[in-house]
Amino acid sequence: MSIEIKGLLLGLAAALGLLGVAFGLSPLLQPKKTTGADPAKQANTVAVTSLDSLPGDAKRGYALFDHNCAPCHGDDARGDEGPNLHNLAKSDARIATLIRGGVKGEMPSFGKKFSDADVQALIAYLRTLKD
Ligand code: HEC
Repeated sequence: MSIEIKGLLLGLAAALGLLGVAFGLSPLLQPKKTTGADPAKQANTVAVTSLDSLPGDAKRGYALFDHNCAPCHGDDARGDEGPNLHNLAKSDARIATLIRGGVKGEMPSFGKKFSDADVQALIAYLRTLKD
């Protein structure tokens, strides 16, 4: 009797063990998911794509911004030493005047450095900064 029970228990244990192995291995046995590029690459692509999708003027404006304004206003124009430039309420004309003339003691004037087209390109870029 007791031997029979032992046998039963052993059999049960063996079955459970097999089940455990089968389930334990199942993730390895499943085909690899092929959902494409790794997330890091995807994030990179998104950033580049959004810049690429800017209209020509704004893209040039971004390059100008990156070189001349980002040190104070931040790489993403969300403000650093200078204020956040997203959702500007000023008119194009006022922004142009501000960029050309600067703000005494606060922001340099770029009137000599930038052509009208440069200033327009910068404004085109600033107008894309809406959130
Ligand atoms: C030396 C730092 C500095 C640099 C460089 C700089 N800014 Fe500024 N900017 C400021 C500061 C500080 C203010 C806030 C001035 C004030 O108090 O009125 C400002 C204000 C502004 C404003 C007005 C923001 C508002 O809310 O009305 C705009 C637009 C602007 N800057 C655009 C630019 C652009 C475009 C460039 C590059 C061509 C640039 N700035 C470069 C420091 C800077």
